[in-house]
This record gives sequence, C-alpha cells and structure tokens, in this order.
Amino acid sequence: MDKQRILITGANRGIGFELTRQFLKDNSQIFATCRNPERADVLNELARKHPDRVTVLQMDVNDEASIIAAAKAVTGKIDSLDLLINNAGIGGDEAGHILGQLTAGEVSHVIETNAVAPLIVTQAFRDLLKRGNNPRVVMISSGMGSLQRAGGSSYAYRMSKAAMNMAARVLAFDSAMNGITTVTMNPGWVQTDMGGPSASLKPEESGDALRALINRLSPADNGMFFQYDGSELPW
Ligand SMILES: NC(=O)c1ccc[n+]([C@@H]2O[C@H](COP(=O)([O-])OP(=O)(O)OC[C@H]3O[C@@H](n4cnc5c(N)ncnc54)[C@H](OP(=O)(O)O)[C@@H]3O)[C@@H](O)[C@H]2O)c1
Repeated sequence: MDKQRILITGANRGIGFELTRQFLKDNSQIFATCRNPERADVLNELARKHPDRVTVLQMDVNDEASIIAAAKAVTGKIDSLDLLINNAGIGGDEAGHILGQLTAGEVSHVIETNAVAPLIVTQAFRDLLKRGNNPRVVMISSGMGSLQRAGGSSYAYRMSKAAMNMAARVLAFDSAMNGITTVTMNPGWVQTDMGGPSASLKPEESGDALRALINRLSPADNGMFFQYDGSELPW
C-alpha cells in the first residue's frame, strides 16, 4: 500500500501506541503525539528505531495552544495528511460516574477530553487533510457511546462518547469537510490501563483489526459507526 501520512493522538501507551506500531507495518509516516514526550519511553524507543517514519510531537488535546503548535509543526514537515486518529481519551473518576458522587467539574472534564478535544484537533488538521490521499478522520469512540445500548452508571464516559459520535456525524455532513471521510469506531474491550487486565482483547488484536478496517475505508463509509471488526454499531 502507498505510504500514508498519519497523525495519532495519545500515542504513548495503550491503543494509541499499538496503532502506531501497527501502521509502521504499512510503511506509513506517523506523527505520534502525546502530552508528555519526555516521559514517553516506549514511544521514544520506537521513534529511535524508525527515525524517518515516527516523529514524536507534544500535544495535550485539552490545550488548544498545544494543538495549534502541533499542527504548525506537522505543516512544516509535510504538505498533506491522509489519516487523523483521535484516540486520546480518559475514563474519568467516580465523580464522573456514580450518581450521588457526581461533580459538574469531573463530568465536564471527561466530555471536554473525549468529545470537545477531538473536534478541535480535527479542525486544526483539516487543511492538511483536505490535501491528503483518501483522507480519513477516525474517532476512537466506544460502544458505551451508543444511545441504544445505554446502561446504568458511567455517566460522563457514556455522555462523552455519544457526543464524540455526534461530532463525527456532523463532520461527515459538513460541506467544509468535503472530501474527508469521518467515521467513529469502537476498538472493543482492550487490555490497556483503561480497559484493565480482564479485557477480552489484547492491544495487538484490536490494533490489527482497526488497521485493516481503517485501510479499507472509502468515502462510502462517511458518517458510519463501526465495531473494530467492521460490523456496524447502532447509534
Ligand atoms: N481500552 C478499552 O477497552 C477501550 C474501549 C473502548 C474505547 N476505548 C477508547 O480508546 C482510546 C484509548 O484508550 P486506551 O484503552 O488506550 O486508554 P489508556 O491506556 O488509558 O490511554 C489513554 C491515552 O490517552 C492519552 N490522553 C488522555 N488525556 C490526554 C490529553 N489531555 N492529551 C493528550 N493525550 C491524552 C493518554 O496520555 P497520558 O499517558 O499522558 O495519560 C494515553 O496515551 C480512548 O479514547 C478510550 O476511550 C478504550
């Protein structure tokens, strides 16, 4: 496959790191962003092994100045981007999830990180994406963002992923995004710090399936909500 130029948020650990590893198999050039590059040991090690293909960049998705600085840095190195993966996200603590303990601050913080930030990141990279080859924006969402599959608890996380899904859907319809395919995906329940050790999928199983699915996305998929295996999820 042609060399793709890819930007991934939250690439220092978990699913973001695994996606970075996966797309290296495709000869891609990857801008692997994270909020603390100086502490991103495994990612820095990967970049040392592939200096021409992995660039580690600072980006805190809750800090607009850092998003803009990262977009400027990428624009200085390449003239187009083929794929943006909005992966960075948080689960949040009990003050976001348990009725009786909820605080507006924590609920808002989770929504800000998981839904507002990916929208602002997408806006910042839109011009580069417009010049890309089969340009795609992938939101790493969750089945917990499905309204149809809602259950009790996890208010902030469920609300944030439902809002992320709506952002993806609106981006898919927005004429200012013409030519860019935007989708949202559930990576499955994955053994990461967030998913925990009992999760059903190893990061490489989820990452391998996500890479295959992302590589076969076309404009016909614009606005879809996918399970990692390519099946469709209910909104
Ligand atoms: N694991 C699962 O079972 C599962 C299931 C469904 C959906 N997901 C989604 O998959 C994505 C990745 O989750 P994961 O399981 O890999 O979680 P994880 O292991 O906890 O990793 C989360 C990543 O997001 C980054 N991040 C958080 N806040 C950030 C910020 N403000 N700016 C930049 N980066 C930030 C973290 O960076 P730091 O190291 O700096 O904290 C880390 O790289 C999330 O969006 C999550 O909601 C996961």
